[in-house]
Amino acid sequence: MSQTDLAETDVRFTLNGRPASAQVEPRTSLADCLREDLLATGTHVGCEQGVCGACTVFVDGRPTRSCITLASACEGAEVRTVEGFAEDALMARIRDAFKRHHGLQCGFCTPGMLTTAYDIVRRLPDADEARIRRELSGNLCRCTGYAGIVAAVQDVLANEPPAAEVVPLPQRRRLLPRDEQAAALALPGARPDAASSDAPAAGSFDFDEAALAGGVMLSRSVRVAASADKVWAVLSDLSAVAETIPGASLDGVDAEGVASGKVTVALGPIKAAFRGRARPVYDHEDRSGRVVGEGRDGLSRSSLRGALTFRLAEAADGEADGETSFLAIDMVYTLKGPLQQFGRPALVEEVADRLLQDTVEAIVARAGGADAPSPARRELNGLALLAAVAKALFGRLFRRW
Ligand code: FES
Ligand code: FES
Repeated sequence: MSQTDLAETDVRFTLNGRPASAQVEPRTSLADCLREDLLATGTHVGCEQGVCGACTVFVDGRPTRSCITLASACEGAEVRTVEGFAEDALMARIRDAFKRHHGLQCGFCTPGMLTTAYDIVRRLPDADEARIRRELSGNLCRCTGYAGIVAAVQDVLANEPPAAEVVPLPQRRRLLPRDEQAAALALPGARPDAASSDAPAAGSFDFDEAALAGGVMLSRSVRVAASADKVWAVLSDLSAVAETIPGASLDGVDAEGVASGKVTVALGPIKAAFRGRARPVYDHEDRSGRVVGEGRDGLSRSSLRGALTFRLAEAADGEADGETSFLAIDMVYTLKGPLQQFGRPALVEEVADRLLQDTVEAIVARAGGADAPSPARRELNGLALLAAVAKALFGRLFRRW
């Protein structure tokens, strides 16, 4: 990476009603810029993965996770942190309700909880308990058990705020024109191509193996409750495999064996649909194979490129019951563009493990003769996945404290 790639640029925005500016690298998060450059330390940083909600601030009137928002993308924006609510009458009532209902203990999650609660009260005056819980589900608290927080929000809603307290939302706007934003967000190595379509480019599929150098690697070995013969029958059938992967759909396979399709990810704040192409190569004798592929999410202009090698083996020795096999997987990938923020190994490992678990269960079901799951059942259950991932990440985080 060259020095020019990391050259600092000036970013200017309004922070809590006052002009603010800082010199930031292209990859500096808004959270780091607020805390380290502008000393607005009321914004807390927990997971740094967009999962826990501790870093939530308002950007142009909308709750935003500042740990996964690039500071450079906030040029000209109105940023409001928890400090900016010091004189706000509605926030004063929310703070008071949190105090009365014991909605905080250590206070680590509290700035994010307060900003989210403020958004709920202002946006959903009729929210019932279930809706409040759903709206708060992106904010994690290790201490309170949530009951006090939910009660505090209910309390404020039950005593409807006088209209004068509610500040209208500013007009939503794009922070920068789309092309400038893409250029500002493009991280070193990303191709700032102008095409706005997320359709894969037509023509031959020339996969650039060299582009995987320095990518993130992941290896797993899983026990599969079905014989190697049965599992291989599924694994070597591309459309059957696509039907077992949550969020994946196959459009077709061309005459050269190149598959095109889409993988949709909806994980809390992460929403992306990578459309692209992949080429599988099988060694039927060895029951192994390799798939290389690349895709692009048109909305965020992020690109994903990866290779997956797999080998299936019959269970040996004491475990050789004819109904057990082992699948070894090695994966290497690069994620470029704004979604690179989500490509951190800790998050990816948690997500990959859970997806692998679901995929293997579906492969075992297919190997046992079950029908392909319906499209609805194959949809990625983002909320359940997020909950599982958040639990694991938070477990690690708090063990560190
Ligand atoms: Fe930003 Fe956890 S620190 S969501
Ligand atoms: Fe401690 Fe929520 S009050 S994490």
